[in-house]
Amino acid sequence: MNDSYYKDHWVAIEPERLDRYEAMFKWTPAVEVLLAPAKISSGQTVADFGCGPGYVAVELAKRVGADGHVHAFDINADFIARTRARAESEGLSDRITAHQLTSGKLPLDDDVLDRLVTKNVMVYVDDPAASFQEFHRVVKPGGVAHVVDSDFGMTVVDPVPAGQWRALLDAAAHAFRTPSIGRQLYGLARGAGFADVTVEVVAIPDTHGRMLHFVNNIAGYAHDGDSAISEGDIQNVVDIATNALANGQFFALNPQFMVTCAV
Ligand SMILES: C[S@@+](CC[C@H](N)C(=O)[O-])C[C@H]1O[C@@H](n2cnc3c(N)ncnc32)[C@H](O)[C@@H]1O
Repeated sequence: MNDSYYKDHWVAIEPERLDRYEAMFKWTPAVEVLLAPAKISSGQTVADFGCGPGYVAVELAKRVGADGHVHAFDINADFIARTRARAESEGLSDRITAHQLTSGKLPLDDDVLDRLVTKNVMVYVDDPAASFQEFHRVVKPGGVAHVVDSDFGMTVVDPVPAGQWRALLDAAAHAFRTPSIGRQLYGLARGAGFADVTVEVVAIPDTHGRMLHFVNNIAGYAHDGDSAISEGDIQNVVDIATNALANGQFFALNPQFMVTCAV
């Protein structure tokens, strides 16, 4: 197993997973709740760090209006192409600049952003402390970095027995640089020099199976790993979750840690 698998699996994404992401990353009211503390408004210059296929960037571009601008960043070339295509089809190309990143350094001058948002990306970065320092560099005084992420040790997929879910997560741990990033975001923000840091945790129960995509991704990572978990044990978790959804008994929780940091 390559030590940088947590990054490599984003640089090269297999087609089946790319299609899953189109479904997973759509703009929904649940996303609205997660980005609300960033207070995006007309005229702002905003960055979306780890933009995926561009749904959030397009929504941000609508909100900043003709006088604002959105910089969308990702390490995956296909996501950058999709973000550009999405901007084009929405008539927002001149409001969105999509940049493919090859390092943790953002191609922006100091103090240029009113807002930086990043959702479910910090769990993958090489060095979360360095990323926070970079956010602090590019956000201008009076601006805000709004960072949202999971903490995989706190996820629940019922009725999968807790021990089996934990074993699957452990077998998939190589897919994340910092699996327990959620609980660490506050300290990282403070350590990077953000003066005013607020934390909220949002936990929206999923009984409709949205998180079944996540379960399948975790199973795929476990399958790709070196751990001793058997294929039967991996499939068993997927089957329990899939059958529970069919029986109307599926219940999943993935608390989102929202850390809003003022410069
Ligand atoms: C779980 S997805 C989240 C996508 C989007 N932010 C959302 O919430 O819909 C993680 C994204 O982070 C990107 N990513 C992973 N590591 C990254 C890094 N070191 N720098 C920038 N983007 C990264 C991936 O390519 C992927 O688009």
